[in-house]
Amino acid sequence: MVIFLFQFLLLLTAKAAGFGPAIPSYQERCKPAGCRNGQPLVRYPFRLKGRQPDDCGAKGFDLSCDNKNQTVLELPTSVKLMVKRIDYVNQKIQVSDEHNCVQNQVQNLSLSASPFLFMSNFDFDSRPRNFTLFNCSADNGLDDYNSNDDIPCLGGQGFYIQYVGYDYSYADLLYCRKTIDILNVPEGILSVKDNNFYFNWSEPACGLMCEAHGQGCRPKSNSSGIECFHVDRDDKGIFGL
Ligand SMILES: *[C@@H]1O[C@H](CO)[C@@H](O)[C@H](O)[C@H]1NC(C)=O
Ligand SMILES: *[C@@H]1O[C@H](CO)[C@@H](O)[C@H](O)[C@H]1NC(C)=O
Ligand SMILES: *[C@@H]1O[C@H](CO)[C@@H](O)[C@H](O)[C@H]1NC(C)=O
Ligand SMILES: *[C@@H]1O[C@H](CO)[C@@H](O)[C@H](O)[C@H]1NC(C)=O
Ligand SMILES: *[C@@H]1O[C@H](CO)[C@@H](O)[C@H](O)[C@H]1NC(C)=O
Ligand SMILES: *[C@@H]1O[C@H](CO)[C@@H](O)[C@H](O)[C@H]1NC(C)=O
Repeated sequence: MVIFLFQFLLLLTAKAAGFGPAIPSYQERCKPAGCRNGQPLVRYPFRLKGRQPDDCGAKGFDLSCDNKNQTVLELPTSVKLMVKRIDYVNQKIQVSDEHNCVQNQVQNLSLSASPFLFMSNFDFDSRPRNFTLFNCSADNGLDDYNSNDDIPCLGGQGFYIQYVGYDYSYADLLYCRKTIDILNVPEGILSVKDNNFYFNWSEPACGLMCEAHGQGCRPKSNSSGIECFHVDRDDKGIFGL
């Protein structure tokens, strides 16, 4: 009898301490992770593929580590951007292109199929529009090209690449040849010059509700939506961020 009681108590303590047959909690399964020291700490709504289980993040928020252990954001379809910083409170992510030319990837970009919005101080820079790229001769002696609409990283010796909105007139493009169409992209991403830009997201809205108060954020376990949870100061993540 005494032995039985003792075993019973042992089982209770084990359960309370999180051992035993209990299913691991969200926090246990989805501990913040990073590709390496100095890389952004990944937690909800993001998930680090291969280091955190599938259901740790929200849909569209998958990140991965490349072969240099840099953090990569994969956008529909097949667009890969390097993640420099994640601001969980203000719900924005700083990204860049590995080869300093995001415009090289925009033909495949389908931001509307992702949770992200291109951030800009100008509303019209964030709204998706249709564009045509023109290959223009730089030897026309006119020197009249509109440098705002030039994409320097796509240009080369004797030519430059310019983008024109479907809804603009083509009047100034005498020395240019139409090349490709780029559909439904924000103009802001075509005009990126310093390989440094931000996306934000509105849902899940963990920022103001949880992160701003130093709390963790997770999906509700038995319904949709999110909830905050307490995070110990010294348990904020593997890199102490
Ligand atoms: C990447 O991280 C893994 C695991 O932490 C490590 O074994 C590997 O050496 C790292 N590779 C580079 C290029 O830093
Ligand atoms: C677009 O994606 C396809 C595969 O989905 C790939 O083969 C192609 O190289 C990509 N194009 C660019 C410009 O990245
Ligand atoms: C995201 O950025 C866009 C453009 O900069 C802005 O209009 C929008 O309000 C922002 N959304 C959130 C949730 O911060
Ligand atoms: C861009 O063009 C496509 C195909 O022509 C069209 O379906 C889409 O509505 C256009 N997008 C915008 C923002 O005008
Ligand atoms: C633009 O045109 C020049 C000369 O006509 C050509 O050499 C170059 O490959 C073209 N570039 C693109 C990206 O179309
Ligand atoms: C799950 O739902 C039940 C009733 O619908 C509720 O009482 C309980 O608090 C919920 N549990 C969690 C962890 O949200």
